[in-house]
Amino acid sequence: MFTDRVLSGMRPTGRMHIGHYHGALRNWVRLQEEHECLFFVADWHALTTHYETPEDIERSVWDMLIDWLAAGLDPNRATLFIQSRVPEHAELTLLLGMITPVGWLERVPTYKDQQEKLKDRDLATWGFLGYPVMQGADILIYRANMVPVGEDQVSHLELVRELARRFNHIYGREPGFEDKAKAAVKKLGSKKAKRYNELRTAFQEQGDEPSLAAARELLEDTQNLSLGDRERLFGWLEGSRRVILPEPQALLTETPKVPGLDGQKMSKSYGNAILMREDPAEVTRKIRTMQTDPARMRRGDPGNPDICPVWPLHAIYSDAPTRDWVVKGCTSAGIGCLECKQPVIDGILREQAPMHERAQKYLDDPQLLRNIVADGCERARELAEQTMEDVREAMGLKYT
Ligand code: TRP
Ligand code: SF4
Repeated sequence: MFTDRVLSGMRPTGRMHIGHYHGALRNWVRLQEEHECLFFVADWHALTTHYETPEDIERSVWDMLIDWLAAGLDPNRATLFIQSRVPEHAELTLLLGMITPVGWLERVPTYKDQQEKLKDRDLATWGFLGYPVMQGADILIYRANMVPVGEDQVSHLELVRELARRFNHIYGREPGFEDKAKAAVKKLGSKKAKRYNELRTAFQEQGDEPSLAAARELLEDTQNLSLGDRERLFGWLEGSRRVILPEPQALLTETPKVPGLDGQKMSKSYGNAILMREDPAEVTRKIRTMQTDPARMRRGDPGNPDICPVWPLHAIYSDAPTRDWVVKGCTSAGIGCLECKQPVIDGILREQAPMHERAQKYLDDPQLLRNIVADGCERARELAEQTMEDVREAMGLKYT
């Protein structure tokens, strides 16, 4: 809402596989071309569920960062950092906690689901219940408006939006708001001020959403406003409060489903995954031995790609003529399964060759990676600090 800014994070709970790559990472790489991006390793989030095995998290943090760089994230375009190195996330989590009704947290579907799923650990903890509050802090502290996440995170984003609204409602009040807002409008210059007022009226009197969007765009394109005036002008559009923490939007992108080698969901803990930087001989071995249509016992039996876990991999890695060849060859028993799998093997190897190459640089020189992350953490901290100054002031914690 202030400027376009993308933020997302991943939990460091193991090596990344091609399911992660096609489900999220590839999209991040694309986003960095078009927007300001911040991506972080959510190590505190990992601790909410894996608090008994911190050594796994510690190892995964660096592996994961190498996987990100291997995938093509460019530290010159995107800010890469580790959550716990920006302790302001913890401060905002604490402060947001003050205004978060416990009932909101208990109603988040993942709260009960995960407790059911991860029966082997005790997740009746304060940290786990507060997970979405911390996620809110991660996002709101950068005033990020675009948050690429999977379907499973949409309920968290909805809660984060409600938290932002609640925060602005409680702390965006200020004495003389209307006068201050009107004075800020004047600072836009007469032409823009007139346009702003027209759009605001259209939204307030007729609920015209496009006018609201146009007014926000006008503000985004205006450079010479103080942060306080900016918050007032965004807030004045809709009501009588400053917008200190803008509401973020989930960015849902169609991504292909990547089945595991056994047709179940790909997951390292099921032992059915192909890693992002898998040894080429292992890629070949894993695909050659992966399951196919179980009805196709012998070479002479026709098969059905629709129930074969290899088929979704063709959807990702093969071109249209190859897919035609698969459908015809499989259903007529014209090709064997090993033959069918070869283009998938070739596709994965082609995809991973540049990843191995990019990763090698960091494997050879670990300090290089440490430096990139140190720079990213520093930049993230500067941005976070700006928001925190505002938040502390709004909550009466400035003590000057
Ligand atoms: N909860 C996310 C997940 O499990 C990870 C995450 C933590 C995140 N904080 C975030 C994602 C902020 C987006 C924005 O995948
Ligand atoms: Fe699966 Fe291909 Fe074998 Fe058909 S030919 S069963 S699609 S691996």
